[in-house]
Amino acid sequence: PTPVILDVDTGVDDALAILFAVAHPDIDVLGISCVAGNAALDQVVANTLRILDVAGASDIPVAGGARRPLIEAPRSAAHVHGEDGLGGIELAPSAREPHPDGAIALMRSLLLASDEPVTLVALAPQTNLALLLRAHPDLAPRIERIVFMGGSAGEGNATAVAEFNVWHDPEAAAIVLDSGVPCYMYGLDVFNRVSIPLDTAERLAGETDARARVVGHLLGHRVSRAPDHHYTGWIGDAGAVCSLVAPELLRTEIHPVRVELGGYSRGQTIVDRRELPGEDSFHGSVGTWHDVEVALEVDAERMAGLFLE
Ligand code: BDR
Ligand code: CA
Repeated sequence: PTPVILDVDTGVDDALAILFAVAHPDIDVLGISCVAGNAALDQVVANTLRILDVAGASDIPVAGGARRPLIEAPRSAAHVHGEDGLGGIELAPSAREPHPDGAIALMRSLLLASDEPVTLVALAPQTNLALLLRAHPDLAPRIERIVFMGGSAGEGNATAVAEFNVWHDPEAAAIVLDSGVPCYMYGLDVFNRVSIPLDTAERLAGETDARARVVGHLLGHRVSRAPDHHYTGWIGDAGAVCSLVAPELLRTEIHPVRVELGGYSRGQTIVDRRELPGEDSFHGSVGTWHDVEVALEVDAERMAGLFLE
């Protein structure tokens, strides 16, 4: 199995991603680091521990990391994920405490202890990853690659052009791209495509198996940003974990990517998909670009099937 560290802001769809990763035989979840994003840090940690209890994986270490982005003030995403970050689910609190040394120390010790390079899967603002890579650049060769849910080659969600995880901490995302570790971007171009019908979610919510019930509840959570815009059955971040075990479900291309840090476009990932050099190549390129494997299309039906299975 692929050794993996998950970095999460649990989060309705982070919870789905954790349940999938723990259940899949080809993935070995070494540990989970938490960051503020969809909910405040303490809530994210509590949610992650509760979800691992449901998954029957209470031995996986969990640690809390950054309470806020590198530069921006903390912001709430309660209008998307509910006050508790899990859409008001009723789940007993975990009896377990998080790792006392915190997320950066936990990630470092897991990387040092692994016999093979580890895949970091970031499903949240990338503050913890940026802190890790800045504090311990010597660990970069121990990271196989960074698979991140974030960014977009097209439209945004947090703003017209920026995706939430990158928008929440753009400097952190820029540091991660600049780290030299190979990056795979599971952005909104594919994230928005994969969902599960509501009647399937309702059926799961009625099952006796605790994991199925929780998955059903989470899939049934109505996300709404505007009164007339609801979407359900959203597997969200879980799709980035699916990409680890079924890369053939995605069409990717390698392109130069940069994170915008200023003005209205702050948090946008610009993906340069041009085949031929442009005027900027002749007159001096602006900003720092890094080659990233960008997921552009997904076989949504098969990915939804993989998730449910
Ligand atoms: C990302 O933001 C959060 O709402 C989700 O958990 C996902 O990681 C999508 O933009
Ligand atoms: Ca997330």
